[in-house]
Amino acid sequence: MTTYVVTGGAGFIGSNFVRLTLESRPQVAMVDIDLLTYAGNLENLADVPRDRHTFIRADITDPEAMRRAIPEGADLLINFAAETHVDRSILGPLAFVRTNVLGTQVLLDVAREKGVKRFIQISTDEVYGSLEPDEPPFTEDWPLDPSSPYAASKTSADLLVLASHHTYGQNVGITRCSNNYGPYQFPEKLIPLMISNAMEDKPLPVYGDGRQVRDWIFTDDHSRAILAVAENGQPGEVYNIGARSERYNIDVVREILRQLGKPESLIQFVTDRPGHDRRYAMDPTRLSTELGWHPAVDFEEGLGRTILWYQQHVDWWQRVRDGSYREFYDKWYGNR
Ligand code: NAD
Ligand code: DAU
Repeated sequence: MTTYVVTGGAGFIGSNFVRLTLESRPQVAMVDIDLLTYAGNLENLADVPRDRHTFIRADITDPEAMRRAIPEGADLLINFAAETHVDRSILGPLAFVRTNVLGTQVLLDVAREKGVKRFIQISTDEVYGSLEPDEPPFTEDWPLDPSSPYAASKTSADLLVLASHHTYGQNVGITRCSNNYGPYQFPEKLIPLMISNAMEDKPLPVYGDGRQVRDWIFTDDHSRAILAVAENGQPGEVYNIGARSERYNIDVVREILRQLGKPESLIQFVTDRPGHDRRYAMDPTRLSTELGWHPAVDFEEGLGRTILWYQQHVDWWQRVRDGSYREFYDKWYGNR
């Protein structure tokens, strides 16, 4: 058996990654460490095979807990755990510094102590800051210029990961991905918020003029790219991930309304996010040429699949909205 440790595996991208990896890698057993903050939800993992998935509730900023949780000599440690919502980072940056910066350093140190063979940091396009409309997409050597407290904390973590490689020769890799969408995304993020609000005929709050650009990728395409980098990427390298799928926010919102057959009168333009980045776009050439990765799902198809998932899983997002998803831990894992 090969052992992959993931952190943050009860969140949106982490849980999709765990499912896809266990399906596609029958020789892999996973240890999944997650604190179950408001963003962690064990319902996201209800269908994964229990015999190859060990869940441990713990905080990545706690070195002793990490020493207990991370197995000696594990093949990979993939760090998804983070505070991730930009709006929350504007209201309270400290939690972001704690988990995203301190937590990453704790994991790097314990991974070295435990002889973990390779460390993968899941990072973001937001470390590069905002692009002008006529600029080319970000390459890996684009200057780091984060805007929000969230982006600054993720940038700090990236620098600590690279410092560990440079100083200790630790085998690390960094993936920087654009905006993900798909099943199990917490309905505070643009696409699931708009889908769930539209389904309930509630207003759809579009920040500012809605002409900000995000570069969208279906989360399974992100997971496949992470596997490629984790299993075959060069030590000490950064790989950008993106599906070359830039869209204005307002166009994404209109497409959701169109697919759901709901009226555009639900759109409500609201006060803009402070310091709102205007445009992100990723150039994934290194990943495609070195590791042969290409996205498989185009945006319209992926959005359709995502909308269908939210239509078929109303109970999931209703439980997130009313808070009852928090009881799931005790029901499923409390008495094992
Ligand atoms: P998420 O908010 O859905 O999940 C984060 C998970 O981390 C949750 O399960 C939470 O319980 C866990 N967590 C938080 N603090 C923790 C702590 N101190 N100890 C242990 N676990 C903790 O996030 P996501 O959208 O799935 O993002 C996962 C990773 O991917 C993050 O590192 C994020 O920066 C990165 N990323 C996200 C996107 C995106 O579009 N969502 C794009 C690029 C990169
Ligand atoms: O780019 C990658 C990043 O994408 C990840 O690193 C972050 O973890 C993830 O949260 C996401 O950040 P964004 O700020 O781009 O995502 P969010 O879904 O919050 O917003 C997407 C765009 O939609 C952004 O321009 C803000 C806008 N927006 C968002 C919300 C929640 C609205 O117009 N209205 C809203 O209600």
